[in-house]
Amino acid sequence: MELMKDMKRTHMCNELNKNNVNQRVVLMGWVQTRRDLGGLIFIDLRDRTGIIQVVFDAQNFKGSFEKVESLRNEYVIAVSGLIVERSEDTKNPKIDTGDIELMASELRILNKSATPPIYIEEHSKVSEALRLKYRYLDLRRPDMQRNIMLRHKVKTVTRDFLNKNGFIEIDTPILTRSTPEGARDYLVPSRVQPGKFYALPQSPQLFKQLLMVSGFDKYYQIAKCFRDEDLRADRQPEFTQIDMEMSFVDIDDIISINEKLLYEIFKQTLGVEIKLPIKRMTYDEAMELYGTDKPDTRFDLTLKNLSDIAVKCDFRVFSQAVEKGGSVRGINAKGCGASMGRREVDGLVELAKEFGAKGLAWINITENQFKSPITKFFSQEQLEEIISRMDGQPGDLLLFVADKDDIAFPVLSQLRLELARRMDIIDDDKMEFLWITDFPLFEYDQTEKRFVSKHHPFTSPADDDIDLLDSNPGAVRSKAYDIVLNGVELGGGSIRIHDQEIQQKVFNVLGFSKERAWEQFGFLLEAFKYGTPPHGGIAYGLDRLVMLLAGQNSIRDVIPFPKVQNASCPMTEAPNIVENKQLKELHIKLDD
Ligand code: AMO
Ligand code: AMP
Repeated sequence: MELMKDMKRTHMCNELNKNNVNQRVVLMGWVQTRRDLGGLIFIDLRDRTGIIQVVFDAQNFKGSFEKVESLRNEYVIAVSGLIVERSEDTKNPKIDTGDIELMASELRILNKSATPPIYIEEHSKVSEALRLKYRYLDLRRPDMQRNIMLRHKVKTVTRDFLNKNGFIEIDTPILTRSTPEGARDYLVPSRVQPGKFYALPQSPQLFKQLLMVSGFDKYYQIAKCFRDEDLRADRQPEFTQIDMEMSFVDIDDIISINEKLLYEIFKQTLGVEIKLPIKRMTYDEAMELYGTDKPDTRFDLTLKNLSDIAVKCDFRVFSQAVEKGGSVRGINAKGCGASMGRREVDGLVELAKEFGAKGLAWINITENQFKSPITKFFSQEQLEEIISRMDGQPGDLLLFVADKDDIAFPVLSQLRLELARRMDIIDDDKMEFLWITDFPLFEYDQTEKRFVSKHHPFTSPADDDIDLLDSNPGAVRSKAYDIVLNGVELGGGSIRIHDQEIQQKVFNVLGFSKERAWEQFGFLLEAFKYGTPPHGGIAYGLDRLVMLLAGQNSIRDVIPFPKVQNASCPMTEAPNIVENKQLKELHIKLDD
């Protein structure tokens, strides 16, 4: 191998253009491709910025041409030479530097490369498992380079914006106590205190609230969070939040500054100007219309409630569902009556069952009749009412679920997404933001038979609902809000409780005795005794934000070193066994 020594890089590949013609330059990077035409060898040289063509001409090249012939993909080289303009017919409009090339006069091979197990190319075709095993090579690919640089840009814009707006970046501990975020904790055993454990933070929630007590009004942090959850395309065990907290604010203040932040991020990364203010919808409205608190509003296909008609009909599945406190809700799959065969409709019924429904009733409206297993149970008048409420036209397929809302909503919201995909009505270029507000403060946990926090126990009830804490907790709305983009929950937050009496009432509803609350969050409750300002905040999933900006479907594609489905890293093979000596030090004995 040769040394760089007296050779100094003068440019990055993509910095060069026609203005540099006749300039002597030194470039360093990787061999992307090599084409050998006998006395003429073309190399595509790649660095972080892009690609430039390098020409080695045996006629003029001073050094050993054998060395040039020995070049292979991913060799690391330094080349010096003259920038020349390509003749018109050899210009390559596909790359930024396509008007020019480097006529090489000196070559140094700084390092060789074994044949890489994956191609360094856009849109890799190899399995994700292989990509993640050789992630350092995968990250050389242009799409991954773009994603990671976009991630950097989002962080930079965020920091710039928040710094300019009076926020202070403060870091909080990674080795800490469990926070009540609701997921399972990652635990770290203590060596010096046998039998005791730290928890990795699920978010900086309690610390950022303590920072408000400390007077650091307007905190932010780009924070690592850890949650031992089942992984999905938008869920990793270790992820990153843009986390903030402010004092002396109400919901509108937080929403307003965050809309400006989102505007800035989208403007500076995609050049897209978000229309402000972003639409808002209450939780109840979102459930009624979309069956979910994170609706994809790029398309319509809204849910319709037919319970009042269904309760009167002769179809017992429908009437009984309503009588038992459930509902009958439907979607009009516009045009699908005409486009879908019976087989596909039966497939939808099966799909609905997979989503948890007991069945899926349907009416296919044709030009002069209904095809349906259920129309016989309805009077002409009832049918007309249903068709009119669902805006049914010939060619449409009406789909119905009769069940408790906690089944009907998730089934229909998933069905809605699946229908939209099949109907191809999702506009990928659209960015539909939505604030969801007025979440319920509690939800009833059927298995535990008690109320649990919908957000976390420090979320403030709505001012108008405080009286309901004692009489009807299930009806209490909170001061929590989520920001949704294209059906993905990007972030969420709330105004927090700063009043001890209300906090105690909330703990009561959650079934926490005073003692247990103090045991778990004593340090926070103690802090709250000493002059706590009204405060609130929000956190975004940075990974999800970058995923959507990059037009990717998985956050794994915007995280440099992510984990796979079983929470392992194919490259480092973490998690892994450790030496007995380490376990002993930690006073840990394994079961097996
Ligand atoms: P929350 O739990 O809603 O709120 O988290 C905020 C945002 O973080 C992202 N997120 C995740 N991203 C990837 N993988 C995960 N496992 C994961 N879990 C959450 C989501 C989510 O909207 N402390 C509160 C915020 C607050 O109240 O200020 C919190 O953590 O995009
Ligand atoms: P059955 O009377 O069970 O044969 O059902 C008649 C039709 O109603 C079938 O198309 C079922 O898929 C549908 N169905 C059954 N249960 C439900 C339900 N809970 N909600 C909506 N449709 C249902």
